[in-house]
Amino acid sequence: MPRLTLSHFRQLHQQGERFATLTAYDATLARLFEQQGVELLLVGDSLGMVVQGEESTVAVSMEAMLYHTRMVVRSTETALVMADMPFMSYRHPQQALKNSGRLLAEGGAQLVKLELHAEQIDLVATLSRAGVPVCAHLGLLPQQVHQLGGYRVQGQNAEQAAALLDSAIACEQAGASMLLLECVSQQVSRAVSERLSIPVIGIGAGPACASQVLVCYDMLGLTPGRRPRFVKNYMEGASSIADAITRYVTEVKQGQFPAPEHCFA
Ligand code: KIV
Repeated sequence: MPRLTLSHFRQLHQQGERFATLTAYDATLARLFEQQGVELLLVGDSLGMVVQGEESTVAVSMEAMLYHTRMVVRSTETALVMADMPFMSYRHPQQALKNSGRLLAEGGAQLVKLELHAEQIDLVATLSRAGVPVCAHLGLLPQQVHQLGGYRVQGQNAEQAAALLDSAIACEQAGASMLLLECVSQQVSRAVSERLSIPVIGIGAGPACASQVLVCYDMLGLTPGRRPRFVKNYMEGASSIADAITRYVTEVKQGQFPAPEHCFA
C-alpha cells in the first residue's frame, strides 16, 4: 500500500472519522506504531526532552530533526510523516522556505509543523504557495516556554479564546492542511473544530478534535515525574507495547480518549 496522503485525511475528516496520531523518533517504534494502526506520525521536537534529555525543546537543531525524520520515514511504508520545524528555524520567510524544504527533500517528511503566534501566520501562506504542506500549531507553544514562564492552558478567557479562533481561521485561509491545538479548553477546541474544515489534532484539547496526539513515551508510561492531566498511560493493563498502542488507536478512533478527566474546562 502506498503512503497515505493528505487527501486521505481530508476524506476521513469529511466522513466524520477520527484518526490516531503519535510522536515517533526512531525506526523500531515508528514501524510498530504504523503496524498497530497509527496513520499519522509526528517527529516532534519533543525529542529534545524525551530523547536528548534537555529541559525544553529550544535546543533542538535542524540537523537533529532531519536525522530523526529520516529514521521514521525509512522504517515506515504507509503512515504520513509530519516533522516539526525547530525553534528559530522559521524566523523569516526565506529561512522558513529553506528549512521546510530540507525536511521534505532531505528528511522525507510529507508535512511540516510550525508553532505560530498570530503575527507569524503569513508564513503558512508563504510555505503553502511554495508547495510545502503545513500543520499550524496553536495554543500552548512549547518553544516559547521562556516567554510564557511555564506550560499553561491557553485561551482561558473570552478574549484569548476569540483570538485563538481568529488565528485558527486565518491559518486555514492561509492554506494550512491541518491544525494542532495544544492545551486549550475543550470549549475552545470544539469551537475551532466546528468552524474549520481542515482536520484538527488535539493534545490536551478535548474530544472534539479529528485526531489526538500524545508523546509516545508519555503514553507508554516511560516519562518520569508527574503525569500531565491530558496523558493516559496505556501500558496500564496492557500485555505488551503493541497492545497498548492498539488500545490507544481504538480509543482515539472511537472518541473514548480523551475522557473528561484528561480535559481542561
Ligand atoms: O513536539 C511534539 O511532540 C509536539 C506535540 C507535543 C504535539 O509538538
